[in-house]
Amino acid sequence: MKHTIISSFITLFGRAPEQIIFAPGRANIIGEHTDYNEGFVLPFAVGQGIWFCAAPNNSDKIIIKAFNTDQATAIDLNTLEVSFELGWARFFVQVLKTIDPPIHKGIDIVFGGNLPIGAGISSSSALTCGFIAILDDIFKINMTEEAQVHIAVISERGYGVRGGIMDQFTIFYGRKNQAILLDCKTNTHEYVPLEMGTYKFYLFNTNVQHNLLHTDYNTRRDECDAAVILINKHYKKLKSLRDLSMDDLTNLQSMLDSLLFNRVSFVVQENNRVIKAKEALLINDFVSLGLLLYESHDGLSQMYQVSCAELDWLVTYTLDYEQIIGARMMGGGFGGCTINLTNGFLSDAFITEMKLKYFQEFGLYPDIFEVCPSDGIFALRS
Ligand code: GLA
Repeated sequence: MKHTIISSFITLFGRAPEQIIFAPGRANIIGEHTDYNEGFVLPFAVGQGIWFCAAPNNSDKIIIKAFNTDQATAIDLNTLEVSFELGWARFFVQVLKTIDPPIHKGIDIVFGGNLPIGAGISSSSALTCGFIAILDDIFKINMTEEAQVHIAVISERGYGVRGGIMDQFTIFYGRKNQAILLDCKTNTHEYVPLEMGTYKFYLFNTNVQHNLLHTDYNTRRDECDAAVILINKHYKKLKSLRDLSMDDLTNLQSMLDSLLFNRVSFVVQENNRVIKAKEALLINDFVSLGLLLYESHDGLSQMYQVSCAELDWLVTYTLDYEQIIGARMMGGGFGGCTINLTNGFLSDAFITEMKLKYFQEFGLYPDIFEVCPSDGIFALRS
């Protein structure tokens, strides 16, 4: 893929790129909807991602070509207006609106890769982070990784989804064969070795496109914020739901209505599961990890209500198949992928049968692919 993107750049712009960057997507083992509640997450960067080729162009425009869709647009650096309104262009514009110092010199860019779009694997964050890394390198801004993560988070929020930090952090800090245990209260992290042996992670993509802006993602954030205000008023001082323990839940049951109680309970329980998952991984107890994944899905579906029929179907389907020892919806939800922990490769027979049954149920086919814990964003010189 890298060579294809380089060739495309040379063909389009008539010179070699000066900068080549790879920004991966991310998977999340467990810890969903906990990041914006200052809780714990346990993600890893995947091998699939987006390649960017870039070089300065002596103009006041960022000229961008999307290889996969064969679309192109230009951003005028004086007005930050785009010549053609394309969905992905907004991620570039948001970065330009956020980055300090502002960018005044143009760049030619071609990007493309093998990261499914809108599948909950952070294609939008990969675009955002990759572009920031290009700007940092070409203009020698010398931002720390921490600063780049921060710019990425703010840029993406500018688009309307009040996301957490998990995706951008994972894209910058990912490491081969390791998961990242990130504490979203302190933004400190530790690496958890993934000694997978025969175990594997597969993603099943519902192919139900999710666009978090048009889902209840922000509503869930509002509900959590509302719960924090109520708990502060009637129970105890706290900054975020992260400050609650399992014991607090008993006291909160009579204080919150059932909707808020379910939201709060899920977050507290999910944080607890992340810590248990880390402990399971440290002793290579994949069976316990798998059970935590199923518990997480139940909570996401029933209590936090961010699943959908297709995600629930894919998780339930795995229950009868003993090679899959854990499954849950992954990412923001309302579509996108499930993450599945398997012992060994999935057989062609299983995949064919599952695809067919899913098609009979929903009229579209799911995609199935393995994801391996991989390095975060990196640059190559051409
Ligand atoms: C999206 C957001 C993340 C996180 C997940 C849910 O991927 O970008 O910050 O909140 O949803 O865990």
